[in-house]
Amino acid sequence: MLGIETSCDETSAAVVDEHGIRGLAIASQDAHAAFGGVVPEIAAREHIRSLDAMVRHAMREAEVGHAEIAGVGVTAGPGLVGALLAGVNWAKAYAFARGLPLLGVHHMEGHLFGTALEHEGAHPPFIGLLVSGGHTLLLEAHAWGRYRLLGQTRDDAAGEAFDKVARRLGLPYPGGPEIQRAAERSAAAGGAAGRFRLPRPMLSRRDLPGDPAYYDMSFSGLKTAVARIAEQLEAEDGLADAVDDLAAEFQEAVVDVLAEKTRRAVEQTGCRRVVLGGGVARNSRLREGLAERLGSSGELYAPSPRLATDNAAMIAAAARFRLARGERSPWSLNAEAALAFPGLA
Ligand code: KG4
Ligand code: ZN
Repeated sequence: MLGIETSCDETSAAVVDEHGIRGLAIASQDAHAAFGGVVPEIAAREHIRSLDAMVRHAMREAEVGHAEIAGVGVTAGPGLVGALLAGVNWAKAYAFARGLPLLGVHHMEGHLFGTALEHEGAHPPFIGLLVSGGHTLLLEAHAWGRYRLLGQTRDDAAGEAFDKVARRLGLPYPGGPEIQRAAERSAAAGGAAGRFRLPRPMLSRRDLPGDPAYYDMSFSGLKTAVARIAEQLEAEDGLADAVDDLAAEFQEAVVDVLAEKTRRAVEQTGCRRVVLGGGVARNSRLREGLAERLGSSGELYAPSPRLATDNAAMIAAAARFRLARGERSPWSLNAEAALAFPGLA
C-alpha cells in the first residue's frame, strides 16, 4: 500500500505491507517558522513541490516498483483543506492512472495505526488518547474501525495550547518541543516546585462518570492563565528568568489532565491497553506521566518520535485495513477540513 499524507506541514509518502513499514519519507516544511505558525497557502504549494520526490524516496527504500503497489491510501481530512487537496489529487491521479483502489483515510484514525505499526500489543480493545495540533480525543476502540468517543477538548487542542503558550513566552514555532526543552532546563536547575501554580481545567474530584465533563478537556483557560502571569512578570521585567519554570508548570498541568482522564477511562471500561498517538505523544513528560498514573492497571503503547509526527506510514496502515475490509473510496473523494471520525458508535 502506498500512503500519502499532506494534512498540515509534513509532506510524507510511505510503502507498507503485511510485515510493516517498507519505506517512509517525510519532509517537514521549515518555510513556516518565520511566520510563527503554519501558513496554509505555503503548505499546499510545498506539498505539490515535494510529493513526487517523497514517493520516489519511499518506493526506493521499499525496493518496489509501480507494478507492486496494490492501492493508494491518502489523508482526506481533517486538516488544512488546500494542503489536503494536494495529497488527495496526487493520490487520485496515481490510482486512476494505474487502475488501483483509492482509500481516503481519517488523519486521527491514522495516528492510532501509527502506534500499532510499532507495537504488536497495540491492538483493540484499547483506550486511545490522540493528542495533536488540531485535535485531542479520548476514545475506546472496540475493534479497528469501531470506536466510542469518550471525551474531547472543548476548545484548544493540546498541541495548539503548547504552541500558543510557547509563542506567548517568546519561544519559536513549533512550540511543543520548545516547551519540553524549557521544562527540562527548569528541572536541571533544581525544579520549579511551587513557584507557579496553574489550574488543572476540568479536573475535579467531584466529576462523576456519566457527566460529559468526566472525560472532556479544555486547554484555552490554561493558556490564558499563563498569559496573565507572563503579563505580570513582564511588568516587573522578570519574564525571561521565569520562562523555564512557567513552561514546566504548564506542561505539568496538561500532563495531569490528560493522564487523569486516561486513567479514568481505563478504570471505567476495564480496558487495560492505552494507545497514545499524535504529535504531542513526542512529549516525554506526557509518556512518563501517563505511565506513572496508570501504574500496574494499564499498559501504555506510545509511538516513537518519528511515527508520532505526521507521517504516511500510518495512513498506509489504516488504508490496508480498509482495503482488506473491501472498502474503497469513489473518484469523487474530496478533502474535508472537518472530516468526522469514522466508525463512532
Ligand atoms: O500530529 P501532529 O504532528 O500534527 C497534527 O496532526 O496536528 O502534531 C503537531 C503538534 C504541534 O502542536 C506540536 O507543537 C506538538 O505536536 N508537539 C509537541 C512535542 N512535539 C510536537 N508537544 C509537546 N511536546 C513535544 N515534545
Ligand atoms: Zn497528526
